[in-house]
Amino acid sequence: MKYSAPRGTRDILPDEIYRWQYVERVFAEVCRQFAFSEIRIPTFEATEVFARGVGGSTDIVRKEMYTFLDKSDRSMTLRPEGTAGVVRSFIEQGMSSLPYPVRLYYNLNLFRYERVAKGRYREFHQLGAEAFGAAGAMMDIEMIALLHSFFKRLGLHSTALHINSIGTPACRSEYNKVLREYLRPYETELCGDCCERLAKNPLRVLDCKVDHCHEIARNAPRLLDYLDTESAEHFAALKDGLTALGIPFVIDTDIVRGLDYYTKTVFEFVSENVGTQGTICGGGRYDCLVEEMGGTAVPAVGFALGEERLLMEMAAQQLDIPRPTPTDIYVAPMGENAQWKAMCLINQLREGGIVAQTDLCGRTLKAQMKFADKIGARFVLVLGENELTSGDAELKNMQDGSKTAVRWEDLPHNLNLLR
Ligand code: HAM
Repeated sequence: MKYSAPRGTRDILPDEIYRWQYVERVFAEVCRQFAFSEIRIPTFEATEVFARGVGGSTDIVRKEMYTFLDKSDRSMTLRPEGTAGVVRSFIEQGMSSLPYPVRLYYNLNLFRYERVAKGRYREFHQLGAEAFGAAGAMMDIEMIALLHSFFKRLGLHSTALHINSIGTPACRSEYNKVLREYLRPYETELCGDCCERLAKNPLRVLDCKVDHCHEIARNAPRLLDYLDTESAEHFAALKDGLTALGIPFVIDTDIVRGLDYYTKTVFEFVSENVGTQGTICGGGRYDCLVEEMGGTAVPAVGFALGEERLLMEMAAQQLDIPRPTPTDIYVAPMGENAQWKAMCLINQLREGGIVAQTDLCGRTLKAQMKFADKIGARFVLVLGENELTSGDAELKNMQDGSKTAVRWEDLPHNLNLLR
């Protein structure tokens, strides 16, 4: 029997993990500078959390959730996104009593039963953030500034910020009437899903991936032209703030986002390098969700970026990601006595922050030298009977072949020899 990872999932191997760790580390640093704290939430929640939170008319809830009955016949779902779970936690843990804005960030693996394609997986990873309690555009700008700062720190360029406003629920319900009127004559041409969407939530038609629906949606009236004063002012403040901070953006009335909870600001960072829809990051404001999920009314805004897509983009832009330090020193013992000395020596070196290895597989000296070369050890120190009795040894620099005479027991106090 030969097992393989389920379709749409993948192993992240030691040879590439440093890339993941690097972007996660930079993201955590930037979040800390913006005063965000990390939150960790369960991998699965009661299905209702997502049905309610993400919304019944979305593709995610209708088709893509990994839902199962647990042994007590409760319907559970592997998280398809982070926001609903974070909102559940915000309410359950009484975070509305914390000083506003409550700023949280996360690093999660997520599950969606999607059609697998370049940059689209069934298990994927997001770095995201949510901020609760600040209603003005300043908070939206702060979130985008965080992302801008993160991308800058990674050296990413030409990742375009697209923004739009989808207004308050009140102006959206007015707009839905106009949109339905526009779409009605095309009803027979729309795909089956869009016919359903037309009745339930016509805004979703604008997001349909079927070419012909997309074509029809192209000339639809734009929600941006139907904003109420409150939403229009919010959008104007967002544009002014981004301009003041020197963050370039384009207004993209096509962005409606594939989740039901958004209000007012929606945004995406897009690039041509990541396949499918090219969206690296998506986010926006969701002022009604906390209340809809049973909390008091607290406005909120957030985003999530796909880590797989971010790494693809970085590779396409040929950005350098620092590889972790290879082995600094390999200590090659000859004989049992030397083995224990080598063990002690490398442990002392490790306490000084040095990456050190010795033989664990009973290799001959020749095989050890080959091994040291293979793992890219920067220095090799041979410890045999002579070295043990005299205390003298040779530190071989594997890059240029040069040798330095050392007192091997003094090495832990003389670490600059290894740097
Ligand atoms: P989303 O647009 O569904 O938003 O996902 C955000 C990002 O996750 C996408 O832009 C993409 O980079 C990545 N992503 C989504 N699905 C996949 C997939 N199947 N394979 C690989 N990457 C994927 C949300 O999830 C919202 N919770 C974002 C948010 C947070 N809004 C407010 N707060």
